[in-house]
Amino acid sequence: MEEAGLEPGVFIASGEAWKRQRRMVMAAFDPAHVKAYFPSLMEVASRLRRRWLSAAAQDQAIDLLADLTRYTVDGVAGLAFGAKVNTIDGREDVIQRHLDHIFPALFRRTMAPFSYWHYVKLGPDRHLPGHVQAIKEAVRGFIADARARMVADPQLSEHPTNLLEAMLAAAQREDGAVADSDIAGNVFTMLQAGEDTTANTLAWLIWLLKRNPAALARCISETEDVAADLSSLGTERLAQLPYLDACINEAMRLKPVAPYFINEAMHDTVVGDVEIEARTVVWSINRFDSVNEKYFVNAGAFEPERWLAGGLHGNDSAKRVVMPFGGGPRICPGRYLALLEIKLAMVMLLANFEIVDVWTPDGKEPREFLTIVMAPVGLRMRLRVKE
Ligand code: HEM
Repeated sequence: MEEAGLEPGVFIASGEAWKRQRRMVMAAFDPAHVKAYFPSLMEVASRLRRRWLSAAAQDQAIDLLADLTRYTVDGVAGLAFGAKVNTIDGREDVIQRHLDHIFPALFRRTMAPFSYWHYVKLGPDRHLPGHVQAIKEAVRGFIADARARMVADPQLSEHPTNLLEAMLAAAQREDGAVADSDIAGNVFTMLQAGEDTTANTLAWLIWLLKRNPAALARCISETEDVAADLSSLGTERLAQLPYLDACINEAMRLKPVAPYFINEAMHDTVVGDVEIEARTVVWSINRFDSVNEKYFVNAGAFEPERWLAGGLHGNDSAKRVVMPFGGGPRICPGRYLALLEIKLAMVMLLANFEIVDVWTPDGKEPREFLTIVMAPVGLRMRLRVKE
């Protein structure tokens, strides 16, 4: 990222810089702030509902992942920048257009067996600097706008309406220790970390539910009374859906979108009985114990009941081997926001539509395609509007 001219955010920082940035980012994800962002998420969910109503009316097949990505792009970009982003209605968003070039170019480099772009620049590499420059200018503009809003309305420091305002308020409290480049880097990090992860988790969940009719029926009945009055839906009500929670946990156990974590040892250390020298890159496989019979009876099956009270066959430590959001001091700071977005989309879907079918073009299970996140390939969905 640095080579490409992008400012690093909390995701790749380490040492003191990470500590400072992590404090700022955690302040932005404070539960009270996440609650304040909820109305913007509701607006984005209503847009997705309109799009799917129109697809259902025309009996059209929905490109599931593409639509869910529009939903998370609009949700996270709106929150990160404090600007209205609307890709669901097909309006081209300038930021997203540049990101659509930057992310694939970065993924390609991450996975390249050697740093080929030092020797030869392929098309995406040649265009990268222009896209990076455009994004940097736009982000600086958003920061300047947010600062101006906060000067005009000092209340916004106490009650920020988006992640950017919250980060700026937290940075003020760090007494100048957080630079503008740190803030810009973290706005970019939110987009990078928060879009594909949530969209792909939702896609896997919808596919797994459709294949498991009993679980789907139980989810529908749990969400029925919430669905009756969507306009009064709030974060408290979404927190009271234990069966949907169990389904999300089970989907993330079987299909974690981050099935591996990559860390670099900062000093010599020992993990278990393995000696690790400083600077060694450690690639940890997340989906190993989580599908192991040692921890889960019938480990390969989608059985959400195992997550309900007393449902883990007395093996409570099993919960700890499933780490879809990582663990320890670097655990995902966006996890509550992600779960909120997932539940909101699911309630909207189950309340308004009957899922007629979810399928892949070759009729097989969706292939797991791993770039930075693990995506299901080719999922299509057909909906019918509920009477
Ligand atoms: C279902 C959705 C998501 C999943 C499965 C997920 C998963 C993860 C994982 C596995 C990590 C690495 C944790 C570790 O190293 O121990 C991580 C880090 C991170 N995530 Fe998420 N994430 C999701 C959504 C989000 C969202 C919505 C945001 C923000 C808008 C976000 C922001 C971040 C950031 C900033 C980090 C880096 C934290 C650090 O290094 O201190 N994530 N996430």
